[in-house]
Amino acid sequence: MIQDISIQKIVTIVGARPQFIKAATVSRLIQNTPGLKEILVHTGQHYDENMSAIFFEEMEIPAPHYHLGIGSGSHGTQTGQMLSAIEAVLSREQPDWVLIYGDTNSTLAGALAAAKLHLPIAHVEAGLRSFNKKMPEEINRILADRISDLLFAPTETAVANLHNEGIGTDQIALVGDVMYDAALYYGEKAESRSQILQTLQLQPRNYLLATIHRAENTDNPQRLQAIFGVLSEIAKQIPVVLPLHPRTRKALEKTDLFASLTQALSIIEPVGYLDMVMLEKNARLITTDSGGVQKEAFFYGVPCVTLREETEWVELVELGWNYLLPPVDQATMQEQLQQRFEAVPPRLDTTKPYGDGKAAQLIVHHLLS
Ligand code: UD1
Ligand code: UDP
Repeated sequence: MIQDISIQKIVTIVGARPQFIKAATVSRLIQNTPGLKEILVHTGQHYDENMSAIFFEEMEIPAPHYHLGIGSGSHGTQTGQMLSAIEAVLSREQPDWVLIYGDTNSTLAGALAAAKLHLPIAHVEAGLRSFNKKMPEEINRILADRISDLLFAPTETAVANLHNEGIGTDQIALVGDVMYDAALYYGEKAESRSQILQTLQLQPRNYLLATIHRAENTDNPQRLQAIFGVLSEIAKQIPVVLPLHPRTRKALEKTDLFASLTQALSIIEPVGYLDMVMLEKNARLITTDSGGVQKEAFFYGVPCVTLREETEWVELVELGWNYLLPPVDQATMQEQLQQRFEAVPPRLDTTKPYGDGKAAQLIVHHLLS
């Protein structure tokens, strides 16, 4: 087969919800850029309709060329099965670039498969660190960055982290955050397309939006109890809306908390991106342990409380927009959350720690050159 040597072939690897969102804007641009061709690989790490297909539909992401159907499993099993299946795809496609996103097991498997075949790797959202190696994501990030050839850092902090690990300046490009690009592009569409506030009968600025899925919270009964105890108390004052991640649903269903929680909280299935954006934009306060949701709170000017000890997105804490609240003790959490409700949010100045919404353009520019 004769291949047009002027076309650069990119194999993009995604598998989990936040990766579909991150890849959406970059994929659209690749499609519209002469000289680039994208082959999309979905590992199947997330597979429920509302954890996967809904994002492809509403964000108009092209259907994956390869769906590997790996599904859930322990870290080793899941990553190993992905590694083997991705290797087969990469051997066949022989791309010019393998493009990976974020810090999931799909990211690590993509990076490893590519590195072992000596294929160049570009990592979007490189350089993030929590400095907590108990997080599976931290291991995935460190390893993926170490073996990537081109590191697309979203923030100055990420660039500094990479320098501190000895990664050379020539490998790093500060491009901004692709999630900001997505927030700008889809944020407007959400206004006209989403009916979620009407469906749930929510008044703007009169509900708390919560998301919880981080393993350190779901897999620790004390933390899970503290988080849901506090949310139930808050729900006595103001509606609490919780699009429930399947991991968290499974953890709660194993406890005797679940039945009472469904009475106290507005627990809904995970929603599509457009509904999520509307829920975020109109919330009075967001509590979350999600990386993406912390930033979206900031993009839409909604104060955020992050239920973790640390965050990779330190700029938001420094700006006073995001408040770290480790979910350890329910009484302390309750007191501090109450203060957050009453606190006057800091003024959002013109600081743009996540770029100017052109991260995808810069990424494509670098891939071409
Ligand atoms: C993964 C990522 C995490 C990311 C999150 C985004 C890793 C190690 N973790 O965590 O970094 O923040 O995605 O949401 O890669 N499940 C379903 N249906 C699905 C998907 C999952 O029921 O469509 C259930 C399964 O029981 C599964 C569990 O959720 O075992 C966890 O899924 P998994 O993909 O392993 O990790 P996440 O917690 O989703
Ligand atoms: N999100 C969504 N529907 C939901 C919950 C989250 O569309 O029910 C979006 C959210 O707006 C953000 C992304 O998913 O863009 C964050 O993904 P997640 O919290 O699963 O992972 P993390 O960012 O922590 O890796």
